[in-house]
This record gives sequence, C-alpha cells and structure tokens, in this order.
Amino acid sequence: MARTTDIEQAAGVLRAGGLVAFPTETVYGLGANAEDPAAVARIFQVKGRPPSHPLIVHIGGAEHLDDWVEDVPAAARLLAERFWPGPLTLVLRRGRRVPLEATGGLETVAVRVPDHPVALALLTEFGGGVTAPSANRFGAVSPTTADHVRVELGDDVDFVLDGGLCTVGVESTIVDATGDQPSILRPGGVTREDLEATLGFPLTVPSTSRVRVPGQHPSHYAPRARVVLVEPEKVVAEAELAQETGHQVGVFLPAAYADTPVKAHAVVTVPDSMPAYARGLYGFLRELDQQGCDLIVASLPTEEGLGMAIANRLRRAAGPRPTD
Ligand code: TXA
Ligand code: MG
Repeated sequence: MARTTDIEQAAGVLRAGGLVAFPTETVYGLGANAEDPAAVARIFQVKGRPPSHPLIVHIGGAEHLDDWVEDVPAAARLLAERFWPGPLTLVLRRGRRVPLEATGGLETVAVRVPDHPVALALLTEFGGGVTAPSANRFGAVSPTTADHVRVELGDDVDFVLDGGLCTVGVESTIVDATGDQPSILRPGGVTREDLEATLGFPLTVPSTSRVRVPGQHPSHYAPRARVVLVEPEKVVAEAELAQETGHQVGVFLPAAYADTPVKAHAVVTVPDSMPAYARGLYGFLRELDQQGCDLIVASLPTEEGLGMAIANRLRRAAGPRPTD
C-alpha cells in the first residue's frame, strides 16, 4: 500500500512532467499533470493511443469543478453532489485551464473525482488536475491491481502507487452533461437506475451494443484470446466443441452452471453478484490469457444495475479486432 512518502514522491513526479500510475475505485489510471501538454502527450505515446481520443481530468473534490469547466447545468451539479467522489465522469464545456491535448481537440472535457484514498491523497498533495486514461496499452484490458500496471507498462511509467485491488473493477459511467438532457455515453460503476433516481427522469442511453463516444472502438477492453458470446445455457456445449476442435478454451461459466463439469483448458465461475463480477471481470480476462487460452466463451449478464457495464465491456472484448 502507498505511504505518505510515496504520495509526496508521486506528486513530485507529476510536477516534473512525469507519469504516475495510481489506483482509483474503478481501475488504475496513468496520470499526468493536466496542464502540461508535453506530459499529456507522453500518455498517448506510452498507451499507443491516437491523440484524438479524449482523456478524463481527475480532480480532488466537487468544489474544484468550476476551475476546470464552464457553464455547469443544474442536472450536472446535482449528479456531482450526489455521486462524487465516485465512479461517475461528467462531460462538460472545457474550461481554459484544460489544454486541447487532453481533450483530443474537443471543446468539452470529461471530469471526475475518484473515490479512492490514495487517488484523493495524490490529488490533494499535487493540488492540480490529473489527466488519466486507464493504465493499459490501447485497446487492452484495464488494470485493477498495481501488478497489472507494472507487468504491462514496465519502465514506461515513472512511478506506480499501489492501492490494492480496485473495488468497483469497471470504469466510471460517462454522462454527457453539457445540455439539460444528460445522456449516458459509457455505462460504468454508477448504475443507470441510480442516476435516474437522482435526476427524477429517464436518461438517454444509446443502444447498448453501439455506445458512441469519441475514442471508443468496437474492440476495446480486449484480452489476447478471442472472446465469443453465447446464450448462458450454451456456454458449456460451445466451450467443449471448441476445445475438441483444437482450441485452448477458457470458460466464463455462469453461476447457475457452477456444478457442471466442463472439458476445457481453464474455467472461471462467474460470481452471481454483479458487484463481485464487475470487481473480478478484468482479472478473469487476464488470468485466462495467462493460462494460454486462445478462445474465451462467455455469456452476457442481465443488463440491470452493474450488469449493463459488464455486458458493455464483454461486447467490446468480443468486438472485431483491428486485424480483422
Ligand atoms: O474509471 C475511469 O473512468 C478510468 C479511471 C482511471 O478514472 N478512466 C478511464 O479512462 O476509463 P479512459 O481514457 O480509458 O476512458 C475515458 C473515455 C474516453 O475513451 C472517451 O471515450 C471518454 O472518456 N471521453 C473523455 N473525454 C470526453 C469528451 N470530452 N467527450 C466525450 N467522451 C469523452
Ligand atoms: Mg481505457
């Protein structure tokens, strides 16, 4: 776990234009001083991410929101008060402090206050905004432990703060709050149901299989192994067939089939509870990769609560790859 001296050192690295990987409640972020265009450019270089893909600016508290954005509608204010610190990102009009390098050239900016003691300590010690995507290479599975970051990014990151396993496990929910009618751009750690209960009206949600946000590709959150999605009752048969035809199959076994023996290379029994599933999701994908699986057979959970974010990530993991 990160100590006070680690936080001070990490803040120093940010001030010097370096990159710091830090824990949040969702996934680990690869952070740079949001106001330092050269440091921000290095994030894109290290990730291998196209510069047109906007980043999230992390701030230490809702009271700092107006330092980074302009024209905050009442609905956005309400959501910030209710869900920050927490896994909610608000897209608002870009304030002058935010360089275009961080927003991929957009006149809007994504902002959030992470709910993690280490992240909040870093933001307080640093004093400014920290722009950070998930700390993985472009298109790959997001990291939920400090070891995931160290293994994937190695010396490309100047400092890694260890905050243990991320408790939410999937990224923040992104809400476009620039207008009076907020809409969900990416489902995540705050559920649609909770957002709607706070706002008192239904949110616009683009069709879940095609959430359109700049910087989101059909293939994302993808392990090395190919991911195939089938109905829950077909997972076992599909996995065994693929294993028999020469694949090294990894199985996401639905909880309802936990006692069914499966002839496959590796099996992960999916937790019944959605928060536990979300927390484990990226670790499971990494584990099956590590065990040498070339194919993962899974099914989608019901798209309620956190199930919506889990289904979104699984669909993207199963999406066409750049080489397809
Ligand atoms: O939980 C999270 O959100 C994590 C942690 C580290 O905070 N961060 C994260 O960042 O998932 P990243 O870069 O992997 O995904 C951020 C996404 C971008 O891909 C883009 O789709 C969206 O946020 N985004 C950022 N700025 C935007 C903007 N101005 N308008 C629309 N979408 C934006
Ligand atoms: Mg990401």
